[in-house]
Amino acid sequence: MYEHDVIVVGAGGAGLRAAIAAHEEGADVALVTKLHPVRSHTGAAEGGINAALHEEDSWELHAYDTMKGSDYLGDAPAIDTFAQDAPDEVIQLEHWGMPFSREEDGKVSQRPFGGLSFPRTTYAGAETGHHLLHTMYEQVVKRGIEVYDEWYVTDLAVTDHEDPEDRVCYGCAAYDIKTGEVAGFHARDGVILATGGPGQVYDHTTNAVANTGDGPAMAYRAGVPLEDMEFVQFHPTTLPSTGVLISEGVRGEGGILYNGEEERFMFEHGYANNEGELASRDVVSRAELTEVNEGRGIEDEYVHLDMRHLGEERIIDRLENILHLAEDFEGVDGLDEPMPVKPGQHYEMGGIETDENGETCIDGLYAAGECACVSLHGSNRLGGNALPELLVFGARAGHHAAGGDMAEAEIPTGPSARSEDGVVDTPVEPGAIEPATGDTVADGGEVRSDGGAVAAAEEVVEQTVTRERERVETLLEDDGTNHAEVRDDIQETMTENVNVFREEDNLKSALEDIRQAREAYGDVAVSDPSRTFNTDLIHTIETRNVIDLAEAITLGALAREEFRGAHWRKQYQERRDDEWLKHTMLRWNGGDPDLYYKPVILEGEEKTYEPKERSY
Ligand code: FUM
Repeated sequence: MYEHDVIVVGAGGAGLRAAIAAHEEGADVALVTKLHPVRSHTGAAEGGINAALHEEDSWELHAYDTMKGSDYLGDAPAIDTFAQDAPDEVIQLEHWGMPFSREEDGKVSQRPFGGLSFPRTTYAGAETGHHLLHTMYEQVVKRGIEVYDEWYVTDLAVTDHEDPEDRVCYGCAAYDIKTGEVAGFHARDGVILATGGPGQVYDHTTNAVANTGDGPAMAYRAGVPLEDMEFVQFHPTTLPSTGVLISEGVRGEGGILYNGEEERFMFEHGYANNEGELASRDVVSRAELTEVNEGRGIEDEYVHLDMRHLGEERIIDRLENILHLAEDFEGVDGLDEPMPVKPGQHYEMGGIETDENGETCIDGLYAAGECACVSLHGSNRLGGNALPELLVFGARAGHHAAGGDMAEAEIPTGPSARSEDGVVDTPVEPGAIEPATGDTVADGGEVRSDGGAVAAAEEVVEQTVTRERERVETLLEDDGTNHAEVRDDIQETMTENVNVFREEDNLKSALEDIRQAREAYGDVAVSDPSRTFNTDLIHTIETRNVIDLAEAITLGALAREEFRGAHWRKQYQERRDDEWLKHTMLRWNGGDPDLYYKPVILEGEEKTYEPKERSY
């Protein structure tokens, strides 16, 4: 068994930042990650990092834009903390050598992004995430932080107390992709989940194949609520054939969207009369799809994004990467012709419920970055707010887990006296095929420790390892369905039924399809018997996570009977603040999911945010 003070699961931006922060507190830290750090999906982030750096800007304005962007579903303590901490994080990055794009006078450049009232997006060309990842990985190497790369964490080692709030996380079990060994990692002080988003729930996504929502799914099954999973961001500019991202930076620099009739539809059809192409993403994605659905799209599928007028020099200086992506993946020369674009899944606003210090309701278990929901983004994230989020909350989680001196969090976690029970009318039973009784079990029925007794820390880790070893052996030895069929079915139904425009019947069909996929998964097996780099095995394990998260997204979408941010419902065409200023919370509950709500916190540090009509 490996042992460290703090174990960080995942080595993208949030994981690297958390590890550095914990190390700064003097902790013995390890990163355990299924990918080598510089292959993490943060590397695909293009556009930039929002922070109020300019003297005419302020953290209050950044906070206000973020709250408005969230359609008043973000929690003010998270938003205020974020906007206040972001500038220092960016300056820290600059001091670590991040190669930001700069103005003639040497100052770090900032450009406009959607939904921002000030051009506050710092960037490094259109490869910001790539440079951020490399800059932070250098710091990890410099500090000698141990990295277990190509180790896939498959389950958390959590005690079996009846009430999830009494449980403790002591570590995790991980599968060594290079050797096939399953080993335990004991965390003396805390485990921080930083596993990124669940984009593979959809088939048209900007997300990497590795983005299977492992952290949220593991935390969910261990008893931590998932929050606001129905809020999925569809980015307005992805390449139609692959889902590859064309950065919002193109529109930030002045790129224009045209429909098939060569109309600048954001203005000409009144979707956003002030901000046009730089309205927030939910608004632009709906506008594009409306154009296509009303017959003004191109090839019934997409619209055009034109940047030719920016001129070659500016494009090469600030957006060169976009030229390569359009050429390589779509065969289009962005200097000479407009690029085809359509909305694609990009980001999950919901995730593992945490407070501002990254803590979940299970002692010793933290989360940060896209896998977490603090809640900063509410029902719609602003472009350029994901990278500062992973810096700010990655750092806070790292400091807290390592015992740093931090102010007490204001955001409550776990059910409380202010929670409200919820019901959702589903056509099929959600959850495990054979739900276990009580909360003391996970993974479809196996008891976490003997006789309900709370095992000592190492024993809990050992039991988790034993269970995971058995799971791997069973998958390798049995015959059965290939996971790919199951995953395809999930991706197809989610893309068809739980997309930008949502209708009750479609959401119910998706739940039926997910149930069938879950049943098929019960018979899943791996045909490749190899113990070395067995990607079939890894993907099979991941597919269980994809199923659980697809179901959580769809349950939340069916439960929320209003139109807010990225969640559009045909039957409910208005935001309903009287009823729905609350977060959707879903608990696994031993395999029998349980829905409840917790109120949004609008009382900020300097003011109480007042919900207003949101227009751009
Ligand atoms: O469009 C983009 O460059 C993406 C940025 C983001 O999601 O924050």
